[in-house]
Amino acid sequence: MAKQLEASVLSMFSLISTRHATKTEQDLATSNTGVGPMALPQPRAGLMDIPFYEGGKSSLKGHGRVIKLSSNESALGPSPAALIAYAGVASNLVRYPDGNAAALKDAISDVHGLDPDQLICGAGSDEILCLVCRAYAGSGDEVVHTAHGFLMYGIYARSVGATPVAVAENNLTADVDAILAAVTDATKIVFVANPNNPTGTVLSGAELVRLRESLREDIVLVVDSAYAEFMGGSCYDGGQALVESTPNTVMTRTFSKIYGLASLRVGWAFAPRSIIETLERLRSPFNVNGAALAAASAAMRDVAHTRSAFDHNLRWMGAALQRFRSLDLDVVGEAGNFVLPKFPNVPGKTAADADAFLQSKGIIVRRVANYGLPDHLRITLGEDDEMEAVLTAVTKFMGGDDG
Ligand SMILES: Cc1ncc(COP(=O)(O)O)c(C=O)c1O
Repeated sequence: MAKQLEASVLSMFSLISTRHATKTEQDLATSNTGVGPMALPQPRAGLMDIPFYEGGKSSLKGHGRVIKLSSNESALGPSPAALIAYAGVASNLVRYPDGNAAALKDAISDVHGLDPDQLICGAGSDEILCLVCRAYAGSGDEVVHTAHGFLMYGIYARSVGATPVAVAENNLTADVDAILAAVTDATKIVFVANPNNPTGTVLSGAELVRLRESLREDIVLVVDSAYAEFMGGSCYDGGQALVESTPNTVMTRTFSKIYGLASLRVGWAFAPRSIIETLERLRSPFNVNGAALAAASAAMRDVAHTRSAFDHNLRWMGAALQRFRSLDLDVVGEAGNFVLPKFPNVPGKTAADADAFLQSKGIIVRRVANYGLPDHLRITLGEDDEMEAVLTAVTKFMGGDDG
């Protein structure tokens, strides 16, 4: 019996391999029904036009330890409480995480005074930006964003078959009138990052309100506040009041920046209940993993650590702006945890030259040519010694006194 089975398996195998062996490439391109080319799986129209998102480099050939200032990660890292919470999850990896992220929503609600039923958590705020596109845009629709806005807006728009529309900025700052002029009957979503990455510029609360009031009601306005926690002052609320007072605005936030949890991929959004209920239907059931939920809840509650990270950032933002400007490097935006100096378009002094010089010193910053900013470098504000190193290196590069 076993012998018979073996023989029949062997003969089946030889039949299959003979079939494969006798097929030429020509055959493979032709249907075995004889009615036309074989239908290999094809991605939806337009998907292959989506550019790859390139993250910041993290290593350099020939350099063991590098100074990585290329991805706007936190200088101080996560709260010690977040690390303890993260480690605590190791003993319970067998269980699915809470798909509703209740403890994390409670932590966000306690710290920000928001209704937990108006929150959604995601695998990074990236996931939520994607969910908004999947929910509200599709083939034939348009998704508006600013010309130097976060690259993922265009990528997610294309992923659902919509057309991204990049709107010119005014001095690297979102221009409300230009955004409104770009809106058509096909517009479904407007994305504004506030502060914006990589420009570090901010739209005032009044301008955001004007934008919302002038947009059609059926257009979702997404205020991407990934860098909100680096903003000081009582006038800025990340878009919270606008969400509370309108039925069509979404504010997205992340644990990847000030909370130092980029690797865990956690983000959240505050939105009207009807939008939350829509997005909740689309997300995967356990989109935020257990370690991420535990660490993010603890990080949110460690307000003192967040404050230290804010103070550290403020100090180095001031020092970096002062240094770059004293070197005659133009810097427009002053918000976020990064600076965007513009280098001269002079051989030997360009952004590309500066990048190469910094790399030779083991320092990785971000070229932003793919954001339409070939003359700029985006430099994340890092730890004290990293900041001293990068400011000294840029000063040397520009031929100044490195003191
Ligand atoms: C403006 C902006 N929005 C959203 C994100 C995505 O953040 P995450 O998916 O890590 O939460 C980033 C990350 O760099 C960003 O700069």
